[in-house]
Formats: sequence, C-alpha cells, structure tokens
Amino acid sequence: MSLASVSRMEAKLLLPTYERQPVLFVRGRGVYLWDPEGKRYLDFLSGIGVNALGHNHPVIQATIKRQASRLIHISNLFFHEYQAELARLLTEISGLDRAFFCNSGTEAWEGALKLARAFAQANNKNGSKPKWRILAMNNSFHGRTFGALATTGQPKYRAPFVPLMPGVSFVKFNDVEELQRKFDSSVCAVCIETIQGEGGICPVDPEFLKLASRLTKESGALLVLDEIQSGLGRTGRHFAYQHYGVLPDIVTVAKPLACGLPLGAILTTERVATCFHPGMHGTTFGGGPLACAVAIEFLREEKKLLKHVRAVGEYFQGALKALDKKHKSIQDVRGAGLMLAMELDSAELAKAVARQLLQQGIIINRTHETVLRFLPPFIIQKKHVDQLIKALDAALHNHAETTKSESAKEEKTSSRGRKGNHAHA
Ligand SMILES: Cc1ncc(COP(=O)(O)O)c(C=O)c1O
Repeated sequence: MSLASVSRMEAKLLLPTYERQPVLFVRGRGVYLWDPEGKRYLDFLSGIGVNALGHNHPVIQATIKRQASRLIHISNLFFHEYQAELARLLTEISGLDRAFFCNSGTEAWEGALKLARAFAQANNKNGSKPKWRILAMNNSFHGRTFGALATTGQPKYRAPFVPLMPGVSFVKFNDVEELQRKFDSSVCAVCIETIQGEGGICPVDPEFLKLASRLTKESGALLVLDEIQSGLGRTGRHFAYQHYGVLPDIVTVAKPLACGLPLGAILTTERVATCFHPGMHGTTFGGGPLACAVAIEFLREEKKLLKHVRAVGEYFQGALKALDKKHKSIQDVRGAGLMLAMELDSAELAKAVARQLLQQGIIINRTHETVLRFLPPFIIQKKHVDQLIKALDAALHNHAETTKSESAKEEKTSSRGRKGNHAHA
C-alpha cells in the first residue's frame, strides 16, 4: 500500500481527528524508522514519548513473542503472574505503595481524579460537605476524556465539549500567590504536570511545587502529579518529581510503560488507596498479562539507561543553548533529560523547521504553536544529537537568510515608492 492510497482511504473512512504528516512508516529499528521506499528517518519523537527503548528492541520483541504464545488476556476477574511484580517495581522506584493498571494516560488521569474525590468523601468525618474542588493548572494537558478535559487548562481542547465536570478551578502555572489565594479547605486535590509537555515543555518551579505539597498536606487534600509524559526515566530520574524532593499522594504514568502496548498506571500511598473498595473502579483490558510482562522488562532496561539519559540530555540541552546564542529567532531552550524544547518566535517558523527536518529524514514535533519538542528514545547517542543540531542550525539559518532578503526586497520597493512620491510632490 502506498502513502497516497492509505491517506485517500483514511480521508474517506476515519473521523477527521488528525492532521498526519505525509509519511507512511512500515518498519523501525533502534532510533530509526523507514518508509516503503526505504527512506530512513531519525526519530527524535519516539511516538510522543512512548518508544523509549527505540523501535524493535530485542528484549521487548522476545517478551512479546513469548507472552503472546502463552497468554494475552484473562480480564481482572482472575490472577496472572505479572501485575503484582510490576506493581512491586513501580512502587519501589516511585516511593509510593500501591498501583492500579489501566490502558492509557487519560484513563490513568480519570482514575486519579476519582481517587481524589473518593478519598475526600471517605475522610469527611464531621458531617460537613466533603472537600470537592480540584485545582488544576493553566496551560496543562491531561488527556481527551471528560475528567481529563475538565482539568486541562487550555480552552481549545475544552470549548467544543462544554459543559464539563464541575468543581475545577484553574491556577496560573507557577504563580505562587494565585495558588495560595485559590486554595482553601474545600479543595480535595491540586493537579500538576511536573513538566507540562503538550503545553510546551514547561517545568514546574520548585517553590510552586513545594507550596502545593505543603498546602495539600496541611489541609488533608492530595497532591496529584501527572507524569504520563515526564515519568519513567524521561528526565534522567524515574520520576521528574524526584528532582524536587517532593513526594506526591498520587502519580499517573503511561506512555513508555509497555513500549507501545497500551498500559497506564495510577500509583498512590497506602493511606489514599484504602478509600477504594472492590467495584468502585475497574477496567476490562487494563493490566493484562501481555502489557504487564513487557512493562516489567521495560523497567529493567529503564534503570540501566538513567545515567545515559542524563548525560545525553545535558549534551543535547547544551547544544540547543549554543544554537540559541546564534539565532535570534530562538526565544528559549528548556526541559530536563530527554524532554527538551526550543521555543521559536513564530508558529510559521516552527512549522517550517519541523517540515524541513522531516523532508531531510529527521522527526521532531511542534507543540503549543511555537515550540519544537524533542522526546527521543532513551538510547539516542551524541552523534544523533549532532545530526539534529546541524539540521536545525541550517534550517534556522535558511530562514534568517530568506527573511533578510525578503525585507531587503521590501525596503527596496518602499524606498522606490518614496522616491516616486517625491517625484510627484
Ligand atoms: C501529561 C499528559 N497527560 C495525559 C496524557 C494523555 O495520555 P493518552 O494520550 O495516553 O490518553 C498525555 C498525552 O500526551 C500527556 O502528555
């Protein structure tokens, strides 16, 4: 099948939810993907932070083959060998006590919101109205289901679907005073992406996160962190909150957990977990034997790669900052580990750069209009970073030259115009 025939059929048969890039991928290995003509692409996006071990990792491939030939699905009505072991590994690295497994990021987030409300009800001892308000952040992104949308602080995602779940107020991200002002005893949860991903790779300020932690602790509310994009090794630590010395009451993870098989998880403390009872929450598919067997192998590999992520991440960020000194169009470089961003001065430029790189066989992503987002596989090496930086440098240079010659042309035309006017005068 060709790109043309696939895209023609999709245009006719799918809901029009995606604006796909014009590439058909048929194969991947390590940090590379290939199209049907054999053109190779260097992957600096890893399926939006999912393929952390790269494509076709031999251990993951072997695990899928082995497990698929034994048992794929049994439902959560029975035991299988892998959920408890996966929960043990996740609780060990997170510092939390218990896990619930689901299928995606948004589903993990929905479960986390339910857990926060259920905890507030279970701990409402004096007969007054239980805590119910949720403080969420401007510019956040938590997914596409209704609870996730209700806590996503970006009108473009929410507006077409109102009315959403009630009880959510938004706080300006990293505005300590506003958090203090909007927080009161009716709040059951403060919800934060430790590093806002879709919103342009914006890390939470230490002061803001510490205040959220203190306020929730003091009032009996919960600190709920979304680490669906930033968690599980992406920043060079198991969780981004581990850079801050803060422990949340609930954390959600998903993306890289099962290396491309759908799997998400809610992790929480013993104290919070006790408010869930059989029947209050569940899923048919979540935490099946195939995905969990793969996730166990992922976590073994992730542990070995943390140091590498920190080293290559630092090198990568340093190289992006060197470009920042060179190109006026770069507004900012930020992020941690291998979750990095370069903010440009216009959406058109960001679009043009991403398009030019794709044509050259390098996959990056544009988010939040002006931000180039880099979420490469953890196995990326310095030589791959060098290749990307060279391509970015050239694309930004080309743009600067084009802009220069266009404004020179404009200047010429308008000065001719001015001369003309003089002649008339
Ligand atoms: C921080 C964050 N939360 C939630 C989600 C939603 O995850 P999913 O697309 O798996 O539902 C995403 C997806 O990009 C995300 O980045």
